[in-house]
Amino acid sequence: LKAELEQTSDTAKATSEIQKVDFVWMNGELVGWEEAKVPVMSHGLHYGTGVFEGIRGYGYGENLYIFRLREHFERLLESARICDIECSYAPQELERACLELIRANKMRQDCYIRPIIFVGFSGINLGFINYPVNTAIVAFPFSQYFSKAGLDVCVSSWTRLYDPVTPPMAKICGNYVNSVFAKRDAAKNGYDEAIMLNSTGKVSEATGENIFVVRDDELVTPSLGSSILKGLTRDTILLLADELGIRAVEREVARSELYTANEIFLTGTAAGIAPVLSVDKRRVGNGKVGPITERLAKVYFDLVVGRETFGHKQWVTKVY
Ligand SMILES: Cc1ncc(COP(=O)(O)O)c(C=O)c1O
Repeated sequence: LKAELEQTSDTAKATSEIQKVDFVWMNGELVGWEEAKVPVMSHGLHYGTGVFEGIRGYGYGENLYIFRLREHFERLLESARICDIECSYAPQELERACLELIRANKMRQDCYIRPIIFVGFSGINLGFINYPVNTAIVAFPFSQYFSKAGLDVCVSSWTRLYDPVTPPMAKICGNYVNSVFAKRDAAKNGYDEAIMLNSTGKVSEATGENIFVVRDDELVTPSLGSSILKGLTRDTILLLADELGIRAVEREVARSELYTANEIFLTGTAAGIAPVLSVDKRRVGNGKVGPITERLAKVYFDLVVGRETFGHKQWVTKVY
């Protein structure tokens, strides 16, 4: 794990720019990268009317393993339903399309898969009645989201959006403006990531990850009512913790608990299990990666690369 965590700036640099691949899957067919274009007046571009997913493929040995593929597509279509965007594909069809795309690109290295469903080009009516809906999947080489083994984070001055505004439970394109505000401020102030508080002042999540806090050997994560995305990595960690005999609870988390935590880590498909070493320049625990974080990160990593299944074979799709 240490070596894994220490893979730093090179990989960060490698993944900061998206590397073009041969094919993109768009509306039912494979098209060349340069052909995968959308009209400038696409509704989704102007109004954020789209939903997306982030999925990871891990190259291990000669094969490529995709983690929780089915659940990602199910969440994608749930997000679309929340937005009242009608997608004509079933999760199984999108899964097949995703595998077809990866095989066509002969991809065997660590990669990121980005499916997106968005309202297309027709007019400027916000109601988008009878507007076309586009579905695309892009997959490109990717290794690390964070360039550091341990993160220095801040609590953002921006409030996390909440259900009566636009639901954080859905991965809606427009929702990410809220995350972008928090992330840019954090980056400009020298932090790696921002933790956002919800409308009641409780901890919600980071800009693209869920958060876990370890206090007195108990793993705590904000409950689903805390204005969070129901992260699949979060779900994985909750299940693994239970199986490993680590007590885990979902509840409201107060900001002050971040300052008294023994350990904190973030979870996300792109970020994996990312240890937090300081919050608002206050050291978390002893300022090093804690034992519970380390243990869970190791199990998670073994699981996603298909090295060990821990009884969850169905979570890992072998591509070749
Ligand atoms: C806002 C937000 N929260 C949490 C997560 C983590 O979710 P998952 O573990 O499903 O990637 C993500 C990433 O998708 C996210 O964008």
